[in-house]
Amino acid sequence: MADRIVSPKTSDDEGKFELSLRPKRLAEYIGQDKIKQNLAILLEAAKARGEAIDHVLLYGPPGLGKTTLANIIANEMSVAIKTTSGPAIERPGDLAAILTNLRAGDVLFIDEVHRLARPVEEVLYPAMEDFQLDIIIGKGPSARSIRLKMPRFTLIGATTRYAMMSAPLRDRFGAIYRLDYYDQAAMETIVHRSAGILNVPIDESGVKEIATRARGTPRVANRLLRRVRDYAQVRADGAITAHVAQDALKLLEVDALGLDEIDRKVLRTIIEKFEGGPVGLETIAASISEEADTIMDVYEPYLLQLGFLDRTSRGRVATRRAYEHLGIKYPDTGQERLL
Ligand code: ADE
Repeated sequence: MADRIVSPKTSDDEGKFELSLRPKRLAEYIGQDKIKQNLAILLEAAKARGEAIDHVLLYGPPGLGKTTLANIIANEMSVAIKTTSGPAIERPGDLAAILTNLRAGDVLFIDEVHRLARPVEEVLYPAMEDFQLDIIIGKGPSARSIRLKMPRFTLIGATTRYAMMSAPLRDRFGAIYRLDYYDQAAMETIVHRSAGILNVPIDESGVKEIATRARGTPRVANRLLRRVRDYAQVRADGAITAHVAQDALKLLEVDALGLDEIDRKVLRTIIEKFEGGPVGLETIAASISEEADTIMDVYEPYLLQLGFLDRTSRGRVATRRAYEHLGIKYPDTGQERLL
C-alpha cells in the first residue's frame, strides 16, 4: 500500500517530505481560489473582532489539501492546532479529555469526521454550539451529569464523505467548503513550487508531464515528483525533462491520464468480467481484492471526473471513453448502450 502512487494517506517515509512542501500561509496556497477568497474573509473578520472563527467543514476527495488548509487556518489565526481523527476518538470521555485541554481560540482538527461514534457526536454538539461540555459521572442509578463551561474554540472537520455525516453535525459548521480537483495550471504551479523547494532541476516540459499525470491532486503530484527525481538521479543526469518523466512514469505504470494499475483493474473488471456493467461496488471490490471504501474514496471520484465511469442505481457502468482509453472495442449493438 505504501508504495502506491494513489494511496489515500501519506506514508511515514514521505511524511517529512510532504510536510516541508505544504504551504504554511494562505497566500502560498495554490488553487481552490473560491475557498481561498472565502477563507480570507472569514479570517480577517474574526481577527478584527478578536474572536475565534466559526467551525469549518472541509470536504472532498483525498489529497486535495484539507489538512493543509486546517493548519493554515490555525497559523493565520496564530493559535495552536490539535489534530485527531473520527475513529481515534472512541468514547465520549476521549473527546472530553481533548476538549478540556484546548485554550481560547485553539483549533481542533478532526479528520474523517464522518466516522465519529454517535455518543461522541452527542458530546460534540453542545461543545460546538454553546461551548459547554456535558459529562456523565458514574454509572447506573447514581450517575449524574455535570456541565462544564469551555473556552471558545474552532472545530475544523474534514471528510471525503459528506453524505455520510449526520445532518445535526453538518448543521453545526458555520462554514462549509468543498475542495475540487485542481486544474492543469494550478497543478503545474504546484509541481514548479515543490521542485524549487526540493532543489530538483526541472524544465517546463517536465513540469507539464508530471502535472498532467497527477490526477488533479497535489499529494499525487508531490509523490510523482519524488519518484521521478529518484529516476532522474539514477538513470539520467539528475534533471527532469518530459522525456525523463515519461520513462520514469512508464516504469511506475502511471499512464498518460495518471491512471495507475488499480484504476485500470477497476475498469477492466467492469468491462471484461461484467460486460461493462452495471455491477455493484462490492462485487468489483471483491473481484480485485481491494476494499470497497478505498475504491469509492480514492479511485472512483477521479474515474467519474474523467467520464470513464457512471454511477447508476443498479451499479457502476464503464463508459465508451473508458473502453477507448484501454484500447478495448466498445460493444457495437447498433445503438448506444442503455444505461
Ligand atoms: N502543496 C500541496 N498542496 C499545495 C497547494 N494547494 N498549494 C501549494 N502547495 C501545495
